[in-house]
Amino acid sequence: MRFPPSLLDEIRARLPVSDVVGRKVKLRRQGREFIGLSPFNAEKTPSFTVSDQKGFYHCFSSGKHGDIFRFLMETEGLSFPEAVERLAGDAGVPMPKPDAYSEKRERERAGLLDVAEAAAAFFERCLTEPGGARARDYLQERGVDRKIQQQFRIGYAPGGRHALKEHLGKLGIDNEAMAAAGLLITGSDVAVPFDRFRDRLIFPITNLQGRVIAFGGRALQADQQPKYLNSPESELFHKGRVLFNMTAARRAVQEKGTIVVAEGYMDVVALTRAGFANAVAPLGTALTEDQLALLWRVTDEPVLCFDGDAAGLRAAFRSADLALPGLKAGKSLRFAMLPEGMDPDDLLRADGPAAVAEVIGKAGPLADMLWTREVEAAPLDTPERRAAFEARLLETVRRIADERVRRHYGELFRDRLAQFFGRQSGVAGRGRRPAGASRQWQPPRGRKQFGQAGAGPAAGRASSDLVRRVASERRTLPRREAILMLALVNHPAFLADRAEMVAEMEISNRELADLRDALLDIVASPDIDAPELRRRLAGRGLESLVEKLEASWAASGRAEWWVDSGAASIDVEHAWDHTAALHHKLVTLHRELKAAEIALQAEPSDENLARLFDIQTQLANAEGTEALMEGFGQASGRSVRAF
Ligand code: UTP
Ligand code: MN
Repeated sequence: MRFPPSLLDEIRARLPVSDVVGRKVKLRRQGREFIGLSPFNAEKTPSFTVSDQKGFYHCFSSGKHGDIFRFLMETEGLSFPEAVERLAGDAGVPMPKPDAYSEKRERERAGLLDVAEAAAAFFERCLTEPGGARARDYLQERGVDRKIQQQFRIGYAPGGRHALKEHLGKLGIDNEAMAAAGLLITGSDVAVPFDRFRDRLIFPITNLQGRVIAFGGRALQADQQPKYLNSPESELFHKGRVLFNMTAARRAVQEKGTIVVAEGYMDVVALTRAGFANAVAPLGTALTEDQLALLWRVTDEPVLCFDGDAAGLRAAFRSADLALPGLKAGKSLRFAMLPEGMDPDDLLRADGPAAVAEVIGKAGPLADMLWTREVEAAPLDTPERRAAFEARLLETVRRIADERVRRHYGELFRDRLAQFFGRQSGVAGRGRRPAGASRQWQPPRGRKQFGQAGAGPAAGRASSDLVRRVASERRTLPRREAILMLALVNHPAFLADRAEMVAEMEISNRELADLRDALLDIVASPDIDAPELRRRLAGRGLESLVEKLEASWAASGRAEWWVDSGAASIDVEHAWDHTAALHHKLVTLHRELKAAEIALQAEPSDENLARLFDIQTQLANAEGTEALMEGFGQASGRSVRAF
């Protein structure tokens, strides 16, 4: 429906912005304007202003700006017509009469909403009656208490074929209306229409106004198919445009700052129990474009939860693809990866609400997800494969429609590529971790490779006090070993996973070998997270060593970004395994080199000479790989570079 500008002006004239905003935000007068705490960002000092004269609000912290209609759309997720209708009501301005056709449709929809509401009330009541005993037991077994049942209006559809039909019939609702609301199974081959939902637990699905529009029904018996049965598409319900629990989630979004998207009904219930009332789920399909648009209307960075297994990762990638074309400044996604084989409900029941909160708190950005996907897609061991990797990343960037976001993604990925391959591209110096700065690990020495000049522009920028201090440190640590250990310190779960491998690693440096032993000792206890690991290392007097590792790594420009505690676990695994394998290879080759040198001295045969050359060639190759992999400008001539 289109609204005449005169109607909008009339509403604006009657409703000062401070009135509409004031219902949600505590405002204080300041001169001609009002100020208050931003409803869009958590903040302590007010940066949100309202001007009745200009008819606008402006939020300095988020850059959001608009009139009263915009305000309702932004803060309550209403569509424009919904906002107009609501505010027209508040202002006492009559809405224009719809034409005859849309009026009829509207009446029919209103009728169907009443039918759906009557059904919801019936299901709710049935859950409390004797017939609902098994459903109640089931809910109790799954930890869904009465309060949550009422909050979600969970119900029970009795067995038999006509319970709902007869009940609604008594209320004067005809079969046609029940069928239109998706409650009956009908058809030319069905002699007597019967209830769609039979002997199932019922989850009502509501629209943004909180009115019931459809149902999801869960089987209560193992042999009942399908496990979840949803209402069919109807005049009221288009499953691709609705999210389960969106009404409640929208109410909670301000407090929580975001919305959490899970896979199913029970996950939303579990998240609510774990303190995340801001949880929603699509209805048995992957997230759609419409659903994403709905989420973005209410929040900037919805958090998507996925199972940490291969299928979950694939689903996460699909959502990432879905989001690319619609990304806007500030609008993105975050990804929370659950432990393998678990949904939020499983995790809550296994490890409690804190575990759920931790997973959601650790959600990673979309950019990392996209990067990880391409890193993982194929080996990167030849120039051609690396070129293909780069092409895939750029193709991803190209699918972003918003010019500004696309530019920033381009820069980020170019930076990371430069880090990853250790080459300097035109933009390499711009990012947080300038590629050239990695040379500060150690002053250039030995032969140069990969066209690296001695002192690039980035090198100067990185020479902070810290760099100098670290560079001048007498006792240096072998760099590869140091990096491998620091990564383990930062990723205890991964460390626990690789404990056996770590135990067998050859570590030349005494200090680092001691650190390794301590790490293995500590993660032998269950549930060690990173802060706890640090505490225990400190307890063993290893704090200063870890600090030294960190300082050296920081001084190098953090070229190995995967070492960071915030790095995606999949990146850590990939890079750490790769580095550890290389470490093993180099250690072995050096041992062989020594043996070959001794053999050649003892017996200067052609064969022994060839053997020595062969090992030297292999070493040069492996060190070249290391230089490439670590984002170094050049490989040093020495086998183990100092830290
Ligand atoms: P899952 O099979 O993962 O179930 O379906 P769940 O959410 O973990 O449910 P519980 O814990 O076994 O009760 C996830 C979602 O997929 C849709 C539903 O929306 C469900 O919540 N689904 C699943 C269907 O629509 N039909 C099905 O047969 C199964
Ligand atoms: Mn489940």
